[in-house]
Amino acid sequence: MSLFFAITFGSAVLILATGLAYKMRQYWKTEAPLLIPTTPAPITGGGVILRMAREVILFESLFKSNKWIWLFGWMFHISLFLVLARHIRYFQEQPWFWVTLIQPLGKYAAYTMMLGLAGLLLRRIVVDRVRYISSPSDYLMLVMLLLIGFSGLMMQLLVRPDIIAIQGYFTGLFNFELFNLPLSTPMVIHLVMVAVLLIIFPFSKLLHAPGVFFSPTRNQADNPREKRHAPSWVSGPPGGHNGSES
Ligand code: HEM
Repeated sequence: MSLFFAITFGSAVLILATGLAYKMRQYWKTEAPLLIPTTPAPITGGGVILRMAREVILFESLFKSNKWIWLFGWMFHISLFLVLARHIRYFQEQPWFWVTLIQPLGKYAAYTMMLGLAGLLLRRIVVDRVRYISSPSDYLMLVMLLLIGFSGLMMQLLVRPDIIAIQGYFTGLFNFELFNLPLSTPMVIHLVMVAVLLIIFPFSKLLHAPGVFFSPTRNQADNPREKRHAPSWVSGPPGGHNGSES
């Protein structure tokens, strides 16, 4: 099983990295022929960075459009961030100072993560018009994340794992050394689900995480008069005039 997980995680990380690189390149190369920032929008590059930061950290536009989805969505994502930060210690021989510091926070974040996910799943089941547009993959992502959280909590509360051995196993893998991975049923469920999640990430709706940075309605400045905006296939009018007033 230790070898199985070594091969599975090696392949999963490879698929994740190449899949993400492929998709990012595709997003990067996709033209945005029109200037379509959602207004009121910032008029400078610095303003765009601030707007994007508010979007990514606070989910600002979601807050403006729907308070319930915002509450559950934000609760889930912030908690996920803390949970993952807590996990960094499994991949380090000597955890960073701040990783040790946030351990208790990450522990409690598991509960708010589950609450957020449960709220998002309930919304898909209970709200008619959301259920109507929900596809199996929408449910699948939520159920998988719930399973990962549930098996993680089982380990935290019932079947205590040997953290030092887990740490040794993963840091060993980085040096192409295979050590024994102590397994329990929750651990197997946890790791299999995580590997599946890593593999489907580049082909699923989870791509919204890196994708938000490529959204023209969010990453464009509202400066149509100051700066000419044209896709690469449009050359300037005859005479080299590029549209800016001189
Ligand atoms: C290879 C990757 C991963 C490994 C080796 C791993 C391992 C573990 C272990 C050993 C625990 C028990 C912690 C304890 O008892 O103190 C745990 C808990 C947990 N895991 Fe993971 N996990 C991984 C990835 C993930 C991912 C990607 C997520 C979320 C999507 C996740 C969510 C959780 C949650 C919510 C808990 C319970 C809270 C906690 O104790 O941190 N895990 N994980």
